[in-house]
Amino acid sequence: MGYKLRCLSCGAEYPGDEVRYTCECGGLLDVEHELASLKVSRELFDSRLDKRGKDPRDPLYTSGVWRYRELVLPVDESQIVSRPEGNTNLYRSPRLCEWVGVDELYLKHEGENPTGSFKDRGMTVGITQAKLLGSKAVACASTGNTAASMASYAALAGLPAIVFIPEGKVALGKLAQALAYGAKTLEVKGDFDVAMRLVQESCRKLGIYLLNSLNPFRIEGQKTIIFETIQQLGWKAPDWIVFPAGNLGNTSAFGKALKELADLGLIERMPRLAAVQAKGADPFYRSFREGFRRREKVEARTVATAIRIGDPVSFPRAVRALRWTDGIVAEVTDQEIMDTKAQVDAAGIGCEPASAAAVAGARKLVQEGTIKPSERVVAILTGHLLKDPQATIGYHMGELEEITPHYANQPFRIEPTLEAVREVLG
Ligand code: F0G
Repeated sequence: MGYKLRCLSCGAEYPGDEVRYTCECGGLLDVEHELASLKVSRELFDSRLDKRGKDPRDPLYTSGVWRYRELVLPVDESQIVSRPEGNTNLYRSPRLCEWVGVDELYLKHEGENPTGSFKDRGMTVGITQAKLLGSKAVACASTGNTAASMASYAALAGLPAIVFIPEGKVALGKLAQALAYGAKTLEVKGDFDVAMRLVQESCRKLGIYLLNSLNPFRIEGQKTIIFETIQQLGWKAPDWIVFPAGNLGNTSAFGKALKELADLGLIERMPRLAAVQAKGADPFYRSFREGFRRREKVEARTVATAIRIGDPVSFPRAVRALRWTDGIVAEVTDQEIMDTKAQVDAAGIGCEPASAAAVAGARKLVQEGTIKPSERVVAILTGHLLKDPQATIGYHMGELEEITPHYANQPFRIEPTLEAVREVLG
């Protein structure tokens, strides 16, 4: 098979085709590849960028996830459920370099995935695995993006999807997607952490396949954010990779991706990870500040609803990711998130609030002197601007609680006359 599941805590091993998300000891699981026997190289992955003469449906050539199939899930191409996903752009904006305070800032826009967030990269793998295992239905708890992504990929695979979302705390675009793609949508009276516990119990007792990032196959897909970014940079690792952190799936995936690239000799040096949390939803930041001696939990509250998470499930995996990469955790306020979002949006790029936390975090780390202005920084924009129209409009209209819209762009309501147009244009 080429891969197995291994417990992070006790080292126990399980076959790759066993339905399980955690170890008997309660530890988290990794998909472990036999790296030494893999024949992969920069040239192999580069050659797959050339689609000429290839079947236009072959995911090895169309998908930015399955391009790295050997390092993701070595399954037969015909089994893969793909939209396709990935192949997202890496932007450079002089305006945002200036905002952050570095010469070289790249924005990897994962909002350009088929359902508008990075979740599609993990979901193509998760749903493919669900199908291979013969699952009858799939489920997840979600702050919105996982739900939208799972609903879409489940529909593509012909599998029933059940999403557990915190009532009233999911951005409109995401809720619309879950409903539209036909997922059974359960609005749980409680926050994300409550929904997360309920979905785990439901999957265990009702025989449904769990597709949260607790599921190690999701992590394998999300690793490709890093593979693709580094390939786009000509296989030159940046100094820093900065990204928003909630349930810590991405933190885990990024660490594993970099470790594998380093072990395979595909990168020459290790970039440092900087996970950014919102101040009102910062359990990982709090633990980091104590040298990870304790696993902190909080009652989460932030305008960035995607990362409104107080008890992240991938905690141990994420700690390991930071140890491998000499990584750090930062936190930013909602005010910083929304002002930075206004900058990213006005640069013509745009993102949802949680994604702006990455850029706000980079700026803060530069101001603190942790990131040097000469260092090369990649910030991951995790979700599309249109995911959360309420946050965007609320900001520009000055209607968000406790947030001053320093960069507001308000609409003008005018009479239908040239005079009125002249007046507005000054
Ligand atoms: N950014 C966005 C836009 C997200 O949707 C999420 C997580 C994150 C960042 C944080 O990533 O959880 O891997 O640390 N959204 C999940 C969801 C929780 O349900 O859609 P993480």
